[in-house]
Amino acid sequence: DVKDLKDYYQNYFPIGIAVNVRSLEEPQADFIKKNFNSITAENDMKMGPLQPKEGIFNWKNADRIVDFAFKNNMKIRGHALCWHEQAGDWIFVDKNGNNVSRELLLERLRTHIHTVVNRYKGKIYAWDVVNEAIDDNPNNLLRKSKWTEIIGDDFIEKAFEYAHEADPNAKLFYNDYNSERPEKVERIYTLLKQLKDKNIPIDGVGLQAHWSIFEPSRSELEHAIQKYSSLGLEIHITELDVSIYKWEKEKRAKRPNESDEYTPELQKAQANKYQMFFEVFRKYKKNITNVTFWNATDKYTWLDHYPVEGRKNYPSLFDINAKPKAAFWKVVNF
Ligand code: G3I
Repeated sequence: DVKDLKDYYQNYFPIGIAVNVRSLEEPQADFIKKNFNSITAENDMKMGPLQPKEGIFNWKNADRIVDFAFKNNMKIRGHALCWHEQAGDWIFVDKNGNNVSRELLLERLRTHIHTVVNRYKGKIYAWDVVNEAIDDNPNNLLRKSKWTEIIGDDFIEKAFEYAHEADPNAKLFYNDYNSERPEKVERIYTLLKQLKDKNIPIDGVGLQAHWSIFEPSRSELEHAIQKYSSLGLEIHITELDVSIYKWEKEKRAKRPNESDEYTPELQKAQANKYQMFFEVFRKYKKNITNVTFWNATDKYTWLDHYPVEGRKNYPSLFDINAKPKAAFWKVVNF
């Protein structure tokens, strides 16, 4: 009696998947409907793709994803209302290419968030409101970006307030990567605590979970979950994948003769790591309220391009033919 992925977890949390409109054509659509009960747009709800020019909204792909999810009874996580990447180039500048004023950028941010959140009101149950605002340099809290440069650090609270105005029932999340690395946990916690202390409408924190067979450890992960939960926040695992390579800091080209063989040893190590992650998710099922994978199968993954361009990766529970891998059987065996 083989069940589909989501069915094993029906007493725990929705199991989500990030998609492009391509993935909604058959036969992939059937695979997605069966295995997942929550959906996220991998790119189509980001600022630039949605509003490439001021006042010109491109709803086609986002609408298609929302319709698909709605028809198939899936929850929808929106990603992402405010990010330093994939924002339309126009948003920060005037006609002459100079930075706009703080007031004008706030106005544009408010219009963008209101328009988008309002369109999917009642359909998108949770939004990544601000994405990746913490700096990679541990000596700083916030990353320097056009948002901090023009508006200041309070762009974050403004974004949450605008989203809450537009849909008071949507759950609002702060989303980031490496959010279980000890030094980054402290800084994300500091930011979240500041927001809570100011009564900013925030419901949860998204752990992107771009992990690998080497990291994080069980204790690092549990520590992060406990620490964020202590603020009364929900936790979503928002972009899960488990790379077979050690994470590198810098983007680079593939070296000649560099191996990208997916050996039985790597498959086994990956299966064990996935097992540990899901043991922890189940243990904290009161706190963890959604677990979303970033790419559905090993056939297509953003990790084929990052951080090493052209090096094949195999981060999913399903192989290139969408068949369950060893990692899948570990995740559903409990
Ligand atoms: O759509 C264009 C296409 O027209 C063009 O021909 C092609 C040439 O490069 O690019 C296409 O756009 C690409 C887009 O994905 C759609 O495929 C962009 O170059 C590429 O940079 C973009 O990458 C996305 C990335 O975010 C952008 O930073 C990845 O697919 C997406 O997986 C990734 O997702 C992020 C999350 O939003 C936030 N957390 C990290 C995560 C992984 O980086």
